[in-house]
Amino acid sequence: MTGVFITFEGGDGAGKTTQLQLLVSWLEEHGHSYVLTREPGGTDVGVELREIILHRKGFLAPRAEALLYAADRAHHVHTVVRPALERGDVVVQDRFFDSSVAYQGAGRVLSETEVRDLSLWAVENLRPNLTIVLDVPADVARARRDSTRDVYDRLEAEADDFHERVREAYRRLAKEEPERIVIIDGQLPAEQIHQQVIDRVGKLLG
Ligand code: TYD
Repeated sequence: MTGVFITFEGGDGAGKTTQLQLLVSWLEEHGHSYVLTREPGGTDVGVELREIILHRKGFLAPRAEALLYAADRAHHVHTVVRPALERGDVVVQDRFFDSSVAYQGAGRVLSETEVRDLSLWAVENLRPNLTIVLDVPADVARARRDSTRDVYDRLEAEADDFHERVREAYRRLAKEEPERIVIIDGQLPAEQIHQQVIDRVGKLLG
């Protein structure tokens, strides 16, 4: 595969959307062909799964939640991500398996190793070339969410201690895989974050 696979991670309210947009504008300016996509919900099937996972009312067993994210991921990678990488595109993706490790592993308290292995099976071991984690304390992220939306999905509605475990998990993952995962302070001005992102992406694209 000749393409480059870049994923963005972080808590809800970390500012991923802004940075994804800034990065794809930069790629466009520099003449790279790219695909901007996301999980959950990057395919037709995924949109239906996303609705179940995030918006269906009532209890969803943690392992069922983990399997639904993995199912979304399997279909998305098979039908969208791998074909794009095979064409040589840059794939810029909002969330990937690190989200499952952080949210279903550390957040729901399932085994992080098992959750990662489930996703790796789902995607036939596809790993990103670069993962950017936007790091924001749980209380700051909550204040941002409160100011931008009035309806919370299933995960956003979790208490701060859940989101603090998610944050800690991302920080740990970045220490474990420093060559793939970069942590950026999500409280910096958006333009400064973007500079740090394109420093890394620029090196990757050569
Ligand atoms: P996201 O699309 O980033 O949220 P939004 O567009 O509403 O800001 O992610 C949806 C939610 O799903 C988010 O709370 C994180 C969660 N999630 C997991 O728990 N596990 C996963 O594997 C993924 C991909 C997302």
